Amino acid sequence: MKFLFKFRRPKGYIDFILPEIKSLANLYSMLPNQRVFASMKNISQEREKLRKHRMQKLELESQEVAHKILKRSILIDSMTSIHSEINGTQQIPIVGPEILEQNKSKTFRIDMTLTNRDSSYQGVSHFQKLKLIKQFYRNNDTLGKKFDLDSPEVIYHIHFDYQHNKTYLGQRYESDYYYKKYRLTNRPFRGFTCTKAELAFLMCNLAELPSDTNCVVYDPFVGSASTLLSAAHLGANTIGSDLAYKTMFGKPKLNKDQKNVFTNFDHYGLPRPQLFLSDFSRSRMRREIFDHIICDPPYGIQAASKVFNGSLRIKSSRNNQYSYKDVIDDLLAKSYHWLKPDGTLVFLYYIDKDIPHKFPYDFVTRFPSYPGMILEEFCENPLIKSRVRYAVKFRFLK
Ligand SMILES: C[S@@+](CC[C@H](N)C(=O)[O-])C[C@H]1O[C@@H](n2cnc3c(N)ncnc32)[C@H](O)[C@@H]1O
Repeated sequence: MKFLFKFRRPKGYIDFILPEIKSLANLYSMLPNQRVFASMKNISQEREKLRKHRMQKLELESQEVAHKILKRSILIDSMTSIHSEINGTQQIPIVGPEILEQNKSKTFRIDMTLTNRDSSYQGVSHFQKLKLIKQFYRNNDTLGKKFDLDSPEVIYHIHFDYQHNKTYLGQRYESDYYYKKYRLTNRPFRGFTCTKAELAFLMCNLAELPSDTNCVVYDPFVGSASTLLSAAHLGANTIGSDLAYKTMFGKPKLNKDQKNVFTNFDHYGLPRPQLFLSDFSRSRMRREIFDHIICDPPYGIQAASKVFNGSLRIKSSRNNQYSYKDVIDDLLAKSYHWLKPDGTLVFLYYIDKDIPHKFPYDFVTRFPSYPGMILEEFCENPLIKSRVRYAVKFRFLK
């Protein structure tokens, strides 16, 4: 079935659009990933197209899969299941009789969009729009007259694709923007190192966290647990560890009402994560215990990358620095041991453009490899002029 997806383009996440939808299609589809995206001959070309155009036509196996993707996605604004399409951009396709019958007594709205012919194109004028809407009414005389602009039960969507000289008609469904309630400003507790809600959910979607089965998600650099909050919302059992006691549990006991990481989980009615104090460089665990590892490893001064020096109060010193290379190498080695077969690791990888020799851009050769380990995605998230980070996704088939 064909669908038109309209994507949001929040600054910094444009590169995540295709990887997110690919991961969700992989999660919900009964077909292997390659077949879902068989229509995309050249993924990097598609990625480039998405950078430019908000609207994209995709083929998915069913309406059910498309709805599940819409419900979970952070970057899809709306989705249209295409009922009919015609060549040219002067006419509007007719709504099928079964669709009209189905929606007979429902309130509705008509949305019109277009893909620009070129940058000089000004769009459809108000007058032309009215003419087209009249034509739409004439063609579909059983449509009903219950127009509702704000909260209609049905949204008909007409899309003029000037690039390919086609017009599509379908039913549009909008995102409920579920992640907004988790924004940092809406949380009762915010730590020093919070990962933004949008990014935390995007990482969970890249990791392909299922929403219907209980999986186990681990964040070894949990900080104020943004990643686990998102994972818990999606129904995962969550486990986290960090070197810094105060970040997770708040300041020691002086004030009984002290807010901490758990306050957020209680606030949203989510099961609390299991948290423990641990220096990642030294942690040892059984093999194959987690389904997914999602984290933002320490990088830079604020995240304070350190190793445990025998005392709970860690003072930054040259002896207890944990080099970024060691952190990442450990993360891959440990994920290889701790993840169950087909498990995924999603983490943020920082690159300082000022010191390229230290952070080569070549993803394939940069990371150590393990049998069955596949680099599936890396999405650019620019930070400041000289620093960029990538959300990197590895799958461990084993
Ligand atoms: C970038 S922050 C994580 C942010 C987190 N996602 C959040 O939402 O708050 C990195 C965390 O790694 C922790 N950390 C630094 N060195 C560590 C180590 N050796 N073992 C475990 N955690 C460490 C820091 O205390 C910090 O909380």
